[in-house]
Amino acid sequence: MTMIDIKDFRVFPGHLDRPAQETLVAAVRDVLRHAPLFRPRTRRGPMSVRMSAAGDFGWISDPKGYRYEAHHPDGQPWPPIPEPVMSLWRDLADCPRDPECCLINWYDGDARMGLHQDVDEQDFDCPVLSVSLGDEALFRMGGTDRRDPTTSHWLKSGDVVLLRGASRRAFHGIDRLRPGTSTLFPDGGRLNLTLRVVT
Ligand code: SIN
Ligand code: FE2
Repeated sequence: MTMIDIKDFRVFPGHLDRPAQETLVAAVRDVLRHAPLFRPRTRRGPMSVRMSAAGDFGWISDPKGYRYEAHHPDGQPWPPIPEPVMSLWRDLADCPRDPECCLINWYDGDARMGLHQDVDEQDFDCPVLSVSLGDEALFRMGGTDRRDPTTSHWLKSGDVVLLRGASRRAFHGIDRLRPGTSTLFPDGGRLNLTLRVVT
């Protein structure tokens, strides 16, 4: 398998074949039955991405700010991280600790995610593992300063990304989707899972 490696940022292209992608989607649907997608609000307004989570912690953003929380906004604890998601981490993350958060991001065709750093966690030795399912998305990767130059990469369904080493705290985001590029979801859209150790 070819591997792209820019400043420790790794893409495992097509790591998940179609059956493996469908297994993950079924597992995530199960999670979402207990912890439905919600639309976080930042100080700039509602996000275009809808979110949920599995594991000990989920990431919450509301008018009070953003943080990890042990409960869904409806007050229920997050469901456990599904086994096929866990095993992906154990295969690829090269980390002795298990993830404590599987953040679930749902992108409709016009959703995007602005350039940001993942810095609300306490252990930066552990990577962020990110799974792309569904329509292709233009991923932008920069450096640890917002003004650093960026490179862009189309993420396809089944691709897995590792942010580790220097790239762990690098700015990144999703500029746009390319609707109609995957048949995984009949009505289109993109599901992204990001696994992190939080504490
Ligand atoms: C994120 O940075 O939280 C999401 C990245 C992605 O959707 O690929
Ligand atoms: Fe992120």
